[in-house]
Amino acid sequence: MLFKKFVSLAILAATATAQAAKGKAFDHVFIVFLENTDYSLAASDAGFRALLSKSVLLNNYHGLHHPSQPNYLASIAGDYFSISDDSTHQFDSSYKTVVDLLDAQHLTWKTYQENIPSVCYSGSSSKSLYYRKHNPFVSFDSIYKNATRCNNVVPATQLATDINNGALPNYALYTPNIKNDGHDTTVAYASNWLTGFITPLLTNTKFMNNTLVIVTFDEADDYSDKTNHVLGLLFGDAIKGLENTVDSTYLTHYSLISTVESNWGLGNLGRNDVNKQLSNVIGFVAAKTGYQNVNVTNPPPLN
Ligand SMILES: *[C@@H]1O[C@H](CO)[C@@H](O)[C@H](O)[C@H]1NC(C)=O
Ligand SMILES: *[C@@H]1O[C@H](CO)[C@@H](O)[C@H](O)[C@H]1NC(C)=O
Ligand SMILES: *[C@@H]1O[C@H](CO)[C@@H](O)[C@H](O)[C@H]1NC(C)=O
Repeated sequence: MLFKKFVSLAILAATATAQAAKGKAFDHVFIVFLENTDYSLAASDAGFRALLSKSVLLNNYHGLHHPSQPNYLASIAGDYFSISDDSTHQFDSSYKTVVDLLDAQHLTWKTYQENIPSVCYSGSSSKSLYYRKHNPFVSFDSIYKNATRCNNVVPATQLATDINNGALPNYALYTPNIKNDGHDTTVAYASNWLTGFITPLLTNTKFMNNTLVIVTFDEADDYSDKTNHVLGLLFGDAIKGLENTVDSTYLTHYSLISTVESNWGLGNLGRNDVNKQLSNVIGFVAAKTGYQNVNVTNPPPLN
């Protein structure tokens, strides 16, 4: 009797966790950041064009500021807090991020950072291919000073292990190294890297588990472009049937947070993740969650 009770409680607990992971449009989101490329250049690149048949093109997606770092900070915190440089900044524990929202619903998360020297490394660069300016997580004490959370800031080599173990987190942000992301190379180098990275994942049934992959660029290369227009692509079994279509919703990096919030009903951070002009939800997700997007006809300058 006691044993039975224990078993049914365990089943209840397991069910609660599984249900929490079920989103309205996806169960896993995997965000990949590329670097410093104008929309027009990426959209005319042969490598990216070849990926369109397998993806949804986001043709109205916008970076928020310059240089790189504020865009990464904004994508997890809903604000870049007036940061306009790539220097080291540390936000005290009162600053919440998307991690707090995910945690509160028992959703799992990780950031995979290519070439980071060790788990939770906080140095600015490894003097090789890793740069802290492209890893926003360690800049928040609410993550960095919490050992459990900081253990989720891992080298990208961990990804294959996690996939094989059926342990793909609900939310992941993947930062390619300074060459693979196009920063120190070219747009063709970045599209070639992405093709090699994404192609095996698209047929990996352990990765494709109602998974939405969002690929974007942190910022446009042209600082005079007030729209900071960059390319976005969606992949994964969560977009099945939508391949080779275009989503023209006006999106920004704040949409990376609002889309996650809307999918899982996470509440919000009360920052620009609730600024209606800057936080539309990705089109097919909004359609499934009932989120009301707005037509943005006069956006603020984003350069
Ligand atoms: C530290 O992280 C764990 C796991 O995410 C969380 O449950 C806990 O509340 C956090 N502690 C603080 C002080 O924020
Ligand atoms: C798919 O994801 C769910 C959580 O969303 C998890 O419970 C399950 O083990 C995953 N399946 C595989 C094959 O990874
Ligand atoms: C946005 O514009 C489109 C096309 O003009 C229109 O169909 C849609 O209703 C508008 N949406 C809102 C929220 O105003």
